Order: sequence, then C-alpha cells, then structure tokens
Amino acid sequence: MLDYKDPQPPQQDKRWKMVQAEMRRHGYASHSLIQVLHAVQSTFGYLDKDSLRYVAEALRVPLSRVYGVATFYHYFSLKPLGEHVCVVCTGTACYIKGVPQLLEALNDEYGIGLEETTPDRKLSVTSARCVGACGLAPVVVTDNETHGRLTPEMFVQRLREVIAK
Ligand code: FES
Repeated sequence: MLDYKDPQPPQQDKRWKMVQAEMRRHGYASHSLIQVLHAVQSTFGYLDKDSLRYVAEALRVPLSRVYGVATFYHYFSLKPLGEHVCVVCTGTACYIKGVPQLLEALNDEYGIGLEETTPDRKLSVTSARCVGACGLAPVVVTDNETHGRLTPEMFVQRLREVIAK
C-alpha cells in the first residue's frame, strides 16, 4: 500500500523529482495546489490527465478541484503547446472591441482557431477570460508580452514577428 505522501508519479521520468521536491517544500499541503501545478507545467510543458490525477492523490485534493484550477488559469494547458503561445483575451471588453475580427484574421493567416496549434507546432493560441488590461481592449499576450488596441492587421503582423524569432 502506498504512503499518501509518496504516491508513484505517472511515469518513470526523472523530471518528476523536481515536482516531488516542490510538493515536499510545501509539506504536501492542499493549498499548494497552484504552485505544484505550476511546477508540473514548467517541467513538462503541459498538464495531462495522469499528472492531474497524481497531483490530486499526492496533495489529497479532489480531482474535480484539480481540474477546476487547471482549466481556470490561462497559464495552464492540458495539451502540449507549440513553440510560441498567444493568449487571446475573450473577456467582454475585448470581445466587444474586436476579438471576433482578430480570430477571423488568425484563421485566414494560419488556419487555426482558439485552443489550437499550427501543424508545424510553431504557434498555439489559447484564451483567457480577462487579462486585466480592459482599457487596452482588444488584448493579446504573445510569449508573455501584452499587446493592446490591436487591429486584425496589427495582430497578424505581431504573430509573424513572434513566429520568426
Ligand atoms: S476583457 Fe480583455 S483585458 Fe479585460
């Protein structure tokens, strides 16, 4: 029988030791859920079902809560992301100020929509409900850099620059 403080990670992968160290640092406390998910995300690039199950078991948190946190914060991804990530704010202010037009331009240029990755895995586009810059709507965040008051043309240009890096 497994000790609750030491359940087995989903795979024999040495990188789990980094996640386990983070859990130990927080004493396997349930309130460290976000920090631990952050550790999994930065170690593996995304959170898959097995990782979420493991974290739930290790921290003794209901799986539904782990899923809730993982899907609420735009930082977390349940799928492997591309080399560059663009977060499109789909909050009310941004939506009214032109997000549908930005998404149309995205689809015309790259053939993808929200929560999708280009076939060459260069670009993933995710969404957030509000990134806290409503005065600059519509807002996107490319590789952690915020851009506001974007026209569809400016948006596509910005994506081209990001991908070319
Ligand atoms: S709604 Fe987009 S930044 Fe707030």
